[in-house]
Amino acid sequence: MTDSFAATLYRRTTSALQAGRGDADAQGGQVHVNRYTDEAIARQEQRLLRQHPQPVAASSSLASPGAWLSLTHLDIPLLLVRQADGQVQAFLNVCRHRGARVVPEGSGSEARAFVCPYHAWTYRPDGALQGVPGSSGFPCLQQAASGLRKLATVERAGIVWVILDPALSASDPGAHLGALMDNLESLAGLRTPVGWAPRSYDVEANWKLLIDGSFEAYHFKVAHRKTIAHMFVDNLQIVDEFDLNRRLYLVKSTFAEDLPEVNGFDPRRYGNLIYFFFPNTTLLVQPDHAQLSSLEPLGATRTRVHELTLIPQAPASDKAMAHWEANIALYRRTLAEDYGLAESIQAGLASGANEALTFGTFEYSAPRFHAQLRQRLDAMPATPLAHP
Ligand code: FES
Ligand SMILES: [Fe+2]
Repeated sequence: MTDSFAATLYRRTTSALQAGRGDADAQGGQVHVNRYTDEAIARQEQRLLRQHPQPVAASSSLASPGAWLSLTHLDIPLLLVRQADGQVQAFLNVCRHRGARVVPEGSGSEARAFVCPYHAWTYRPDGALQGVPGSSGFPCLQQAASGLRKLATVERAGIVWVILDPALSASDPGAHLGALMDNLESLAGLRTPVGWAPRSYDVEANWKLLIDGSFEAYHFKVAHRKTIAHMFVDNLQIVDEFDLNRRLYLVKSTFAEDLPEVNGFDPRRYGNLIYFFFPNTTLLVQPDHAQLSSLEPLGATRTRVHELTLIPQAPASDKAMAHWEANIALYRRTLAEDYGLAESIQAGLASGANEALTFGTFEYSAPRFHAQLRQRLDAMPATPLAHP
């Protein structure tokens, strides 16, 4: 962690505690309910998500060259393979012959070739098309150009990030993650953490209701009174923006009690840091680990949540295991409070009670996110480009 980052957060926390608020100039706002209910908007958001890096797996789940993982993310069949040079490469897990899924969901190591289950076209671990049974029947096939389609892939903070749109295969996912990712990786234990306890489950609410809830501590005292409210200063959030990404600092009450010094100040000891990577991924950074949550819109009113805990190393004892399990259990109990409320909001949206949801000044991060998202959606073509 750089000194300037910790010292700046220290100073801002001190003045926010004196002023009783984090962001003096913030503006509240409104978001129309149709942003949470309209299926056409949800479909366009799904397309937009495919243009931004998605955290699809823990780097630690692909331990050494030849390790592979076949999964589906945002409805896209993916194959991840750690290459001979140590880098993970993501491919569309779709045969270049007639489009069958090449590798069923699962994982393995020491891959030598991937054989399509339909007609046995065979691909090397680097995606190249290696063999075509009855190749004389394909006189025009350009074998060198018929490997598995590569997707833009990067490993950062122990996570494999992939841009799922093959038209963007030459783009740099690291550029989207930007300076905020550099800052995240500078934190102890978060450059190459181990992925632990992955979990996916569905919530009956629009994905953006879940995002809205991660952008303010206004609700802590009420919604989290049984879990984490007692640990935090009421309704105080310090926000830093990094282009479309942002970091929130939610200050713990121990800051005012201990009065730590600026020298050697450890922000993780005195608050939670929320790293938000536009548009759908959040990392909650705690003193000795982090929780990743990525939201997949299944439709306007249903979201699949993908969770992963990032810890410094795999637990080597029962005590270590119990420590992480207790942390994960509290995280999940707290999130269940948030997501229960999101489901109650979703159920009320169609009632006509509100034309728009209202956000106060200290909740400004949410309407700001909606405006940024809307701007990007409006800039996209209305439907995918037609092919001949
Ligand atoms: S579809 Fe894969 S070999 Fe035919
Ligand atoms: Fe919450």
